[in-house]
Amino acid sequence: VQKDEDFRPNFHFTPEKNWMNDPNGMFFYNGYFHLFFQHYPDDNVWGPMHWGHAISTDMITWKEQPIALEPDEKGYIFSGSAVVDNENTSGFGKDGKVPIVAMFTYHDPKGAEAGEIDHQSQAIAYSLDEGKTWTKYEGNPVIENPGIKDFRDPKVIWDGIHQQWVMVLAADDKSMFYISKNLKDWELASEFGKGLGAHGGVWECPDFFPMYVEDSDEVKWVLIQSLNPGGYNGGSGTQYFIGDFDGKEFTPVDEMQDLGEDHNYWIDFGKDNYAGVTWANIPEENGRKLFIGWMSNWQYAQEVPTETWRSAMTVARELKLEKNDGSYMITSVPARELKNYRSINYKEENVKINGTTKLIDSAKIDLSSAEIRFKISDLKQTDYKFSLSNSQGDELVFGYDHAEKEFYLDRSKAGQTGFSEDFANKISTAPRISDAGDLTGIIILDKTSVELFFDDGKTVMTEIFFPNYPWEQLSVSAENGEFTLDQIDAYQLKFK
Ligand code: FRU
Repeated sequence: VQKDEDFRPNFHFTPEKNWMNDPNGMFFYNGYFHLFFQHYPDDNVWGPMHWGHAISTDMITWKEQPIALEPDEKGYIFSGSAVVDNENTSGFGKDGKVPIVAMFTYHDPKGAEAGEIDHQSQAIAYSLDEGKTWTKYEGNPVIENPGIKDFRDPKVIWDGIHQQWVMVLAADDKSMFYISKNLKDWELASEFGKGLGAHGGVWECPDFFPMYVEDSDEVKWVLIQSLNPGGYNGGSGTQYFIGDFDGKEFTPVDEMQDLGEDHNYWIDFGKDNYAGVTWANIPEENGRKLFIGWMSNWQYAQEVPTETWRSAMTVARELKLEKNDGSYMITSVPARELKNYRSINYKEENVKINGTTKLIDSAKIDLSSAEIRFKISDLKQTDYKFSLSNSQGDELVFGYDHAEKEFYLDRSKAGQTGFSEDFANKISTAPRISDAGDLTGIIILDKTSVELFFDDGKTVMTEIFFPNYPWEQLSVSAENGEFTLDQIDAYQLKFK
């Protein structure tokens, strides 16, 4: 029976030791992708928050670094972001060194315990050595609490369109936008989101940025807005809004003006992708929007059956903004850098599926480190179902239900589930958003996670699981009738 280190992912980032939640302060600089994260270095459950730190040259394999920010007398270091202040607008730069400026929430635990409403405020820190060491600004906090209990998770971007810094933070049931010229003095510009979209829980960890609509010169602004609980399949989840920004106010596109509780604008429909945000300072022309999320859910994150460390990040993803028949949507696919780790390839074409067919066993491809792509073009009314199984009788199932036009993912028999009632009490579902006749999928498998990207990332589902033994077999079945698997393309992913 597997436990603890057996469950440590092969390639998804995990802290060497103890607790991790949200990704924080991601920026790219001088050849390195930086990832900071909510971290409690002294225990494997949530506690006094620090910013842990890891670096990578490709967002796929990571090297953990010393802790970047520690709590102090003003409080714990909650989630936030970082920007590269290339023009030294903050004045923190010295001797030509470019300052990296982080903005985070101070959470005063004493105030919180005493029931004071104003225990969260926004603060900054800067680094002159590319994120290794940080100095907290003596003028902190830079934004005092205005009398809102949940007031946190500032995400800053350089808004090149309006030549200003823009920051969005989450404030209970809305997002608040602030603008600044120097990262120190902030002015409230507007608020957004009360009564719009999903509000099953507190809004947290927003992100806000402009994007080109694919294959056009049109620019729209995207607000990513996590909430907990209230996610599509329960617990924590991440929805988004698309609209226009005039430098002060965000206005959603027509089709999102009256968005209700139930909608299909989710970055990921699975249970385990939360608090994700995008990297700052990505260099390329029309820079890619690169995203990473925390691969867990507050419903059970602190109970999952690992001891040494707790929780992982998703694989890094590239977001795109698509417009189809006048409707906007965000798609996401694994960052292309993952392809550099492909080794053995196993491929089949035109496989007739009638009943259950064994596709891949672990002698061919180790299923705890794999990328599998498939295409089905004559799905007609047949439902398909993939199943990962092992000799212990564990089974992870995911498939497509025609009648409902829904994907599903069932981890209820995928090994250890008893640590939390919320872990596997429901089969997760996700709408098929694409109307295309062909159905394509990318399956990214690690020891304890599956990330499903359907229809070029129009529907995404990410979930974790804890099998008693590694998966030994991948099979596919036709649930009623038969179909042809036009293509199945599996790659062993190899890390070192
Ligand atoms: C989201 C969150 C943030 C907060 C952080 C604390 O998971 O609740 O809102 O800043 O975690 O660790």
